[in-house]
Amino acid sequence: MTGLSIKTPYFLIDKTGLDSGLQKLKDALQNAWPNYIIGYSYKTNSLPWVINYFKKNNCYAEVVSDDEYELAKSIGIDNKNVIYNGIAKSKKSFLEAVRNHAIVNIDSEYEIDWLDDLAYQDRVQGEKYEVGIRVNFDLEAYCPGQTQCGEDGERFGFCYENGELQRAIDKIENKGIHVTGLHLHKSSKTRMPDIYESIAKVAVEITGKYDLSLSYIDIGGGFFGGLETKPQFPEYFNMVAGILAEQFDSDNTVLIVEPGMALIGSAVDYITSVVDVKKTMRNTFVITDGSRTQIDPLMTKSEYFYDLIMQNENRKNNTRQIVSGFTCMEHDRLFELNDGLELQPGDQIVYHKVGAYTMCLAPLFIKWYPDVYVKDGALINKVRNRWTDSNYKSGSIAE
Ligand SMILES: Cc1ncc(COP(=O)(O)O)c(C=O)c1O
Repeated sequence: MTGLSIKTPYFLIDKTGLDSGLQKLKDALQNAWPNYIIGYSYKTNSLPWVINYFKKNNCYAEVVSDDEYELAKSIGIDNKNVIYNGIAKSKKSFLEAVRNHAIVNIDSEYEIDWLDDLAYQDRVQGEKYEVGIRVNFDLEAYCPGQTQCGEDGERFGFCYENGELQRAIDKIENKGIHVTGLHLHKSSKTRMPDIYESIAKVAVEITGKYDLSLSYIDIGGGFFGGLETKPQFPEYFNMVAGILAEQFDSDNTVLIVEPGMALIGSAVDYITSVVDVKKTMRNTFVITDGSRTQIDPLMTKSEYFYDLIMQNENRKNNTRQIVSGFTCMEHDRLFELNDGLELQPGDQIVYHKVGAYTMCLAPLFIKWYPDVYVKDGALINKVRNRWTDSNYKSGSIAE
């Protein structure tokens, strides 16, 4: 099957790109802090083929809801290889994960209360349970202008500066459950290394101040990956390792990372075709069978990486063409082509680096999910059939 014979629209995952990105990450971690765990972030792209790929490559599953937790189990991930984060856990899955020694990072007060069930079991069976806790610290004070919420601050985890973190740790320990890890994921606007410098410094400070005995520091995700012009993995991890070494040693403390975007973002293309060209009084609109909803579901991107594949070059120039999507929303416009050759039905537009927060975040609006293929060398295999009405209706009760 060749690319041009495949019916558009579809996503295409480049397995070679995934392989090389993951290897670079492993090499950088091995070099900086050999005692590491990579937890692939399911929320970034949880297509079954993708999560299974990371499972086969010895990554843990980083999940943030009971649904993602069940998904991980459904592909055969052992609890010991689950990192369970977030504020959307169910009590049942939370207790199951802690009981089966998953890495569970507490984020909400009610989870601490749920631990009572385990404390009881602990007394009965002599089992020892461990949890980690998500730290909320004022990153905006360390890296002004770089955080997602700026002056309003972030809402996840227990606040270090106002004493909430200490109170929560004490409450957990008083139940006979040991706090063995700190989770410090931060979603920044910039993804720059100084974010991780602050994370590492705060981890060291908290551990020393509270005299914690930790088996892991989880610095979360949010790294760049697959972009030559942006920071590379060693820049993050060499710096983090240098700081962590002040307090921890790599034989006893695991460094956990939870990348999503850095691994899957750049390995995925979205292939679309021109289906119509409309000339109006004000513009030329190039209508495609793709949509902005599929590669920019939050409608925040101002530009895309793309290539045009024209069937021939025998055509005129057009001063301004607006490439648009299949939905009925006027703002489903992807980009403007200025002073370019006129696009025609049958031409293809290939968007690159669209693997993160796209397939999993796109709405089921007007059209259902498209086909997904994986390219492995010369081979192209389908790994998801486009959804039909039966997928869409599954689980619904129409009458
Ligand atoms: C807890 C946690 N870990 C990991 C990630 C992955 O981030 P990214 O895809 O930017 O690497 C996120 C994303 O929001 C997250 O919330």
